[in-house]
Amino acid sequence: MTNSQSVPMMLQKNTTLGEFIIENQSEFRYSSGELSRLINSIRLAAKVVNHEVNKAGLVDILGTAGDTNVQGEDQQKLDVYANNAFIKTLTNREIVCGIASEEEDNFITIKGRNEQNDNKYVVLIDPLDGSSNIDVNVSVGTIFSIYRRITEPGTPVTLEDFLQPGKNQVAAGYIIYGTSTMIVYTTGHGVNGFTLNPAIGTYYLSHPNMKFPEDGKIYSVNEGNYVHFPQGVKDYIKYCQKEEGDRPYTSRYIGSLVSDFHRNMIKGGIYIYPNTAKDPNGKLRLLYECNPMALIAEQAGGKASNGFQRILDIQPTELHQRTPFICGSKHMVEKAEGFMQQHKPS
Ligand code: AHG
Ligand code: MN
Ligand code: MN
Repeated sequence: MTNSQSVPMMLQKNTTLGEFIIENQSEFRYSSGELSRLINSIRLAAKVVNHEVNKAGLVDILGTAGDTNVQGEDQQKLDVYANNAFIKTLTNREIVCGIASEEEDNFITIKGRNEQNDNKYVVLIDPLDGSSNIDVNVSVGTIFSIYRRITEPGTPVTLEDFLQPGKNQVAAGYIIYGTSTMIVYTTGHGVNGFTLNPAIGTYYLSHPNMKFPEDGKIYSVNEGNYVHFPQGVKDYIKYCQKEEGDRPYTSRYIGSLVSDFHRNMIKGGIYIYPNTAKDPNGKLRLLYECNPMALIAEQAGGKASNGFQRILDIQPTELHQRTPFICGSKHMVEKAEGFMQQHKPS
């Protein structure tokens, strides 16, 4: 590029994630250093998991004896490995008072300095999203969601601290272990994406201020379940397929929420995981998957709904609660909601 004036400021100096966190920490309305340290520990865990995901295909070749690795430890499934890596990295940093994970039945309490319950943040994670794709070398991800505790610091963290509506999130993001590894996150001031340079282990700001196009031409849904979908979703899918105007749209479904969402945010599209008669609340988890993705979507100008209500307004009642999920480009989600309204259950 010859005209340096036309290069955005941040790109001109190859901003790293570490620099970006420090430069932007004053935007955070609470103690800025704490959130920075928290994002930093997620960045570190993501590198560890990335390393393991990247050599997943080698496990059988490198493993010495059945399911035991060279250190004599049991080889773990990658989702268990990722779960442990994130929990370990988030513990002992005197910031997090509790972690809830898709892989754990109950939340974990974390004590801070001098065994006190002084830490202020709870983290909720889906350590490995799209895990059915690992064996076939298709992108997987990690999703994280951060809240400030509601209960007083100094007391043990409680379930109430985790059961907050998504609009209370102070930060949320995902890591995508794809053709390249990226961290995409928001602290409520837009969405930024950082790509890992694996040669030096540094994330660079590659996607500043990410925005969902308001309209898109991609719909992502597991159409194998079509006959079980609610009528509103069936009608919307037929609308997507109809030859009219800029339709038919293209169908793209990886089966890994992080990857489907990431593609749709860049290209414009809608992701739908509806309820069915068998699964009246759908499949996806409100706290570990839908809330963080919904915050990112809204911060990027998109929308997220259960068909009738904004995802971020839902008051959770249990840790592993599920919800139908419609998320993506604003006008597409509004159109789908319109079809849902026509068949609203009484
Ligand atoms: P996880 O691997 O964390 O259990 O999540 C899988 C989720 C989500 O990532 C994906 O979009 C969806 O399940 C796919 O479900 P289907 O195989 O039913 O389409
Ligand atoms: Mn998942
Ligand atoms: Mn998972």
